[in-house]
Amino acid sequence: MVVIKQNGVGTIENRQTNTKTSHQYEVLPPSTLPIYKVKQEEKLKFKELVDFCVEKYPNEDNHEFLCYSPYLAYEYLKGTELFEKINSFRYGWGYFDFGALKIVGLFDVNQVELGGTPSDYDKESYSKSKWYRFSQVLIHGILNTVVMNYLYQRPGTVHSIIQRHGMENTETSSGIVKLSKHNEDNLLKSSADFITFGFLRNFECTSSILTSIRSIPDIYDKWYFDILFDGKFKYPADGNYNPQPVYDGGGILYGNRQYPKIRFDPTEQLKDFVGHTPIQREALMALDKDLESVKVEDIPEAGDIYLINNKIVLHYRAQVNVGLTPDKQPCERRWMLRTLSVESFGYMQGFAHPENPRLIIEKGCGHIYSSNELRDFDLRNPVLKNID
Ligand SMILES: [Fe+2]
Repeated sequence: MVVIKQNGVGTIENRQTNTKTSHQYEVLPPSTLPIYKVKQEEKLKFKELVDFCVEKYPNEDNHEFLCYSPYLAYEYLKGTELFEKINSFRYGWGYFDFGALKIVGLFDVNQVELGGTPSDYDKESYSKSKWYRFSQVLIHGILNTVVMNYLYQRPGTVHSIIQRHGMENTETSSGIVKLSKHNEDNLLKSSADFITFGFLRNFECTSSILTSIRSIPDIYDKWYFDILFDGKFKYPADGNYNPQPVYDGGGILYGNRQYPKIRFDPTEQLKDFVGHTPIQREALMALDKDLESVKVEDIPEAGDIYLINNKIVLHYRAQVNVGLTPDKQPCERRWMLRTLSVESFGYMQGFAHPENPRLIIEKGCGHIYSSNELRDFDLRNPVLKNID
C-alpha cells in the first residue's frame, strides 16, 4: 500500500547534480471550511433554472422533477465554476478533502415575501418556501445524486428545520434528545451520503458546527484507530424509541484505512445501556476529544448553503436564544431547509418501502420495518406516530 502522510521525511532527487537530499515535509490536514462565492452571472442562471422548474412541476417531490433535475441543472449551468465546484464535491472522498462546502450568494431570500417563521415545520405555508425548496433539490441535481426521504425524518424531500421556543438550552431542533456532533442517521446502514442545509434566515446568529474526520492528522497512527476501524460496535436505535433497542453493527470508522468514513454520535453511543467494553468506550471518548479539537464554527446567513458529505463530516449547532438577536432584540426565528441524497439508488432499495422506493424504512443497522408494522402507515404522510 502506498502510504501518504501529512507529516514526515521525504527525499528530493536532483537529476542535474545527481544528488538526493532529505527534507522534512508537512502537509496541513484540511482544517477549514471551504467557501465558494457565487458569481452574479451564475446566480442569474441558477434563478432561471429554479424559475423554470417552479413553473413546470407541481412540487419538489414530483417524480419527473426529481429524475430530470440533474439534466436540467447541467443544461442551465454547464461550463460555470459553480457547476464544477458542486459537481466535483461529489467525488471528494479523499485524504485531503474536508468534506463540506459553504456556498455563499446563490440566491437572495426575500424576507418580506417569506413572512414570519412558522411555529413548526408542519405549520408553514408551502407557497412561501416553494422556490427555495426547488433550489435545494437542484443543488443535489448538480451533484447528480438521488434525493431520499427517511421515515425518521420529516415527510418529503425538503424538510423545514425550525427553532421552537422552549429549545433555548438544547443543541437540537427536534427537542427529543440533547445532541452533539453526529452524522445524520448514522445508526442506519442506509444513511445519506450528502446533505444540504439551506438557510432562509438566522437572525439569532446561531453558529453551525462542523467536524471533519479528515482534520485529524494521520488518524491511522492514533492508538484508537485499530479498535474503531471495522470493529464490532453497538448502535442504539433512534432516540424516539422508548426503551431504545441496541443493534450490533460494524466499525465507527470504515472503508479505506487511510481516509476512512465515520458514523458516530457520541451522545447516543456513549450512553451506559449501549454496552460497549471499557476499551471501546475509551477509544470512542478519545475520538470524540480529537474531533472536538478540530471543529469549525461558522455563522450562516440567509441564502447560505452548506453542502456536507455525511460520511466524512459531523454536524450540530450551538445553543441559541430563540427569537432574539445577539443584542437581545426580538427577531424572526432561524429557519433552515434540509435535504438528504445518496449515490446509489439500487443499494438503497434493500431499505426502501416497496411502494415508495425513495422512502427509507430502516429502523437501525439494517433492520427494516415489517409489513405488519407498516400496516397503518400513510404513504402520503409518511411519519410513524407513537414509536415505542
Ligand atoms: Fe443532524
